[in-house]
Amino acid sequence: MLNERDFGRVRHMIDEYAGIKLSAQKRNMVYNRLLRRLRAHGVSNFGDYLDLVQADASAERQAFVNALTTNLTAFFREPHHFELLATVAADRARKGNAPLRVWSSACSTGEEAWSIAMVLREAGCAGDIRASDIDSEVLRTASAGVYRNERVTDLGPSRLKKHFLRGTGANEGLVSIRPELRAMTRFFQLNLQSPAWPQQERYDVIFCRNVVIYFDREGQRRLVARFADMLAPGGLLMVGHSESFPAGHPAFRSCGRTAYERVAH
Ligand SMILES: C[S@@+](CC[C@H](N)C(=O)[O-])C[C@H]1O[C@@H](n2cnc3c(N)ncnc32)[C@H](O)[C@@H]1O
Repeated sequence: MLNERDFGRVRHMIDEYAGIKLSAQKRNMVYNRLLRRLRAHGVSNFGDYLDLVQADASAERQAFVNALTTNLTAFFREPHHFELLATVAADRARKGNAPLRVWSSACSTGEEAWSIAMVLREAGCAGDIRASDIDSEVLRTASAGVYRNERVTDLGPSRLKKHFLRGTGANEGLVSIRPELRAMTRFFQLNLQSPAWPQQERYDVIFCRNVVIYFDREGQRRLVARFADMLAPGGLLMVGHSESFPAGHPAFRSCGRTAYERVAH
């Protein structure tokens, strides 16, 4: 049983660690996801498990966060952003081809970042792609760059051939990202709500899609101001289909469906 008090603790802790606001309706989801962690530790009640997570320097804290994040994603999800990126990449390739700096800021299992790399490669555009997430488990999958065939069937034969190696023998049924895409892509762990970010240089494009839905308005407001600082003038911020958090911020103007341009000042 996950009683009201322990559920309250979970909500408070995941907000503190990741800025994620869990609604009161998520009790069953939380129960199912954390039960596996209790079993892994041989702990019989939620209170004891949460004590373990809260203990100083607890190794379980990361596993707790991993268990509570929602990681749904797909290659070329919300394709209009990749069409817009293709025009930016073609333009950059024509004008000197300095590497286009792109950040996939909640990359989950990597499909978003690899889709970005494919678009840049197809445009003949040099790329410097960074991809981050708070969840250490999805980052392992992302940087491995190996996916089941079913994940890539919608990409079509030409993209499949150009960007993936097919597994054989023991790797039958799997595809692996080609080295040309790996060479331009780096993954790292980052909590978007943490007060210090390691990056110094500015980006040309930031993808921040389908993550701020888990944050409150204040968390979203802080984030958009930080993205404004991280984007070069004229740079683009792509957000998820049900998100509009950059709207109304003076540093951004809308430039198409769920895309915002960093205005120069
Ligand atoms: C639904 S997925 C979105 C993946 C991808 N951007 C897309 O649109 O397909 C949300 C991701 O946000 C990550 N996330 C949640 N809170 C985060 C935080 N505070 N900092 C960084 N990433 C976070 C989760 O781990 C998860 O992988």
